[in-house]
Amino acid sequence: MSNYHIKHLEEYYQVYRKSVRNPENFWEEIAEEHFVWRKRWDKVLSWDFSKPEVKWYEGAQLNITENCIDRHLRTRGTKTAILFEPNDPSEEAEHISYQQLYARVNQFANVLKEQGIQKGDRVCIYLPMIPELAISTLACARVGAIHSVVFAGFSATALSTRINDSDCKMVITSDGSYRGPKTIDLKGIVDEALEDCSCVATVLVAKRIHTDINMKDGRDQWLQPLLDNASTECEPEIMNAEDPLFILYTSGSTGKPKGMVHTTAGYMVYTAFTFKNAFQYRENDVYWCTADIGWITGHSYIVYGPLANGATSVMFEGVPNYPDWGRFWEIVEKHKITQFYTAPTAIRALAKENLDFVEKYDLSSLKVLGSVGEPINDEAWHWYDGNIGKKKSPIIDTWWQTETGGIMISPIPYATPTKPTYATLPFPGIQPTLMDENGQEIKGNQVDGRLCIKFPWPSMARTIWGNHERYRDTYFTAYKNMYFTGDGALRDEVGYYRITGRVDDVIIVSGHNLGTAPIEDSINEHQAVAESAIVGFPHDIKGNALYGYVILKETGESRNPDNLRKEINQIITEHIGPIAKLDKIQFTSGLPKTRSGKIMRRILRKIASNDTNNLGDTSTLLNPEVVQEIMDNVL
Ligand code: WT7
Repeated sequence: MSNYHIKHLEEYYQVYRKSVRNPENFWEEIAEEHFVWRKRWDKVLSWDFSKPEVKWYEGAQLNITENCIDRHLRTRGTKTAILFEPNDPSEEAEHISYQQLYARVNQFANVLKEQGIQKGDRVCIYLPMIPELAISTLACARVGAIHSVVFAGFSATALSTRINDSDCKMVITSDGSYRGPKTIDLKGIVDEALEDCSCVATVLVAKRIHTDINMKDGRDQWLQPLLDNASTECEPEIMNAEDPLFILYTSGSTGKPKGMVHTTAGYMVYTAFTFKNAFQYRENDVYWCTADIGWITGHSYIVYGPLANGATSVMFEGVPNYPDWGRFWEIVEKHKITQFYTAPTAIRALAKENLDFVEKYDLSSLKVLGSVGEPINDEAWHWYDGNIGKKKSPIIDTWWQTETGGIMISPIPYATPTKPTYATLPFPGIQPTLMDENGQEIKGNQVDGRLCIKFPWPSMARTIWGNHERYRDTYFTAYKNMYFTGDGALRDEVGYYRITGRVDDVIIVSGHNLGTAPIEDSINEHQAVAESAIVGFPHDIKGNALYGYVILKETGESRNPDNLRKEINQIITEHIGPIAKLDKIQFTSGLPKTRSGKIMRRILRKIASNDTNNLGDTSTLLNPEVVQEIMDNVL
């Protein structure tokens, strides 16, 4: 991809203009550069946002693992592909070379085949951040199975919903996981989830914490002995460009999680291209993204994007504060990290601690600092820039989504001048625009509106698993012929974008995308609860925290409110996971509603954020007395 390694701003504008003038040519040239295609495409792009249907590189055949692994063996066989840094710093880091990765992925792929997994089957992966997570993901891709990685912090209920939604035949998990000083009984969670899943025939169990666990006869098998007996050669399954590569669930504002479906060729080309340019990746760099592979950030920028470039990608099992708040910087020094990619919530948490934790370590290897997941506030931006980058490493504030598959708006380091809190300019090939509430495109600069994308890009999700109609309704009906992101944004005088946050009922807590509806649904399952409404309010570290307004049934009114609060959070933990717990729960006799019965969340949001000077337009409000009551009792 040497032609497309952008090094200065003029070059960016040149490449950008070209990508918009003739997208097909642009994406064709990139695909031609260095990938291994088993068959060339017949057509670069066909698209129709009204259906919606998007196809990239139609007619092409390939296997993504051949591009991420086999292709590098000749020149980079002994180079570290995955550098595993364990939870416990006294345990040695593991350097997995491309050659070793090849052997381990192939062994795993052969085990999948022996266990009856075939092209197109869904396999759920519920693992901590250990090498088996990356290896099993790649092994699925090797045999053409569709992986569905579920973040190992999700509860049994959340796991079973996801397994059932995509009818997974197999679950890959471990006996447990480490998280700082704690261990977590992952296998127990899987056992509980599987009580509600009849589709799963096999569970493969990796050993990590070596505890005694329950193994169900005829269903559960230890992974290692199967791997030991498997061949290290496995021919890659030849996939069509538009065959699904994976499903990854993301929260919607209503209903159950959406299984976003990503396909093979376009996803590979786009994640490879953006990885190289967004991080200015050079041979011998040591790149570290602190995300979990259970999120899209990990799929695209720990596994596929870096490996497609033959990079060294660090996988960290632990947490930022174990054994102390210096852990990230200790790792940066130890492995001489060159690109560091994390989330604003982590930056804010680290910024609260004593600077000694940073200053103890040599961070001079760093060249690029990344941020992702939510808007990065001014203070966090400057802390990151000054204390970690020493004002020498550009910060790339990368805006994108599970649905977009790859980075969409971001500075190109050393080319795009950065501006605190701005994601800046679209990547080549990306055509963002702002829309007003009447569906009109907002032209010009120094404006704000709803962020949409006007033209397809290779790594966009193609559908929601099993529900194409929902895909269309969620992303393509708000504005004609546009992909609607759900975010608001402003565009400054030079055309830089700043993402201002969600405009729908999705709340981003510590970088995790949470829908209000599923949380409200689980609260409402409490026997004493009649109705509830969740909003976000600003939080120093998490960005947003959750505030719940709960109406109790008569039976609940005599109960101890603190016990009720605990029980409500317990239910949320069981249904969704601890990340969705509420910081504040206010009991109330009613909720502000419109005449048509819709909860006026805007008002609840203002009250929870202590911003009640101007409640905005309340002309459609049916019950103003409730608003007063809520304001009087705000927590
Ligand atoms: C939502 C998508 C992309 C991987 C992580 C999140 C918010 C993401 C930024 C950013 C402001 C951001 C948006 C987006 N978001 N990155 N740099 N600045 N907001 O993936 O869970 O699908 O969430 O995260 O609101 O819509 P996700």
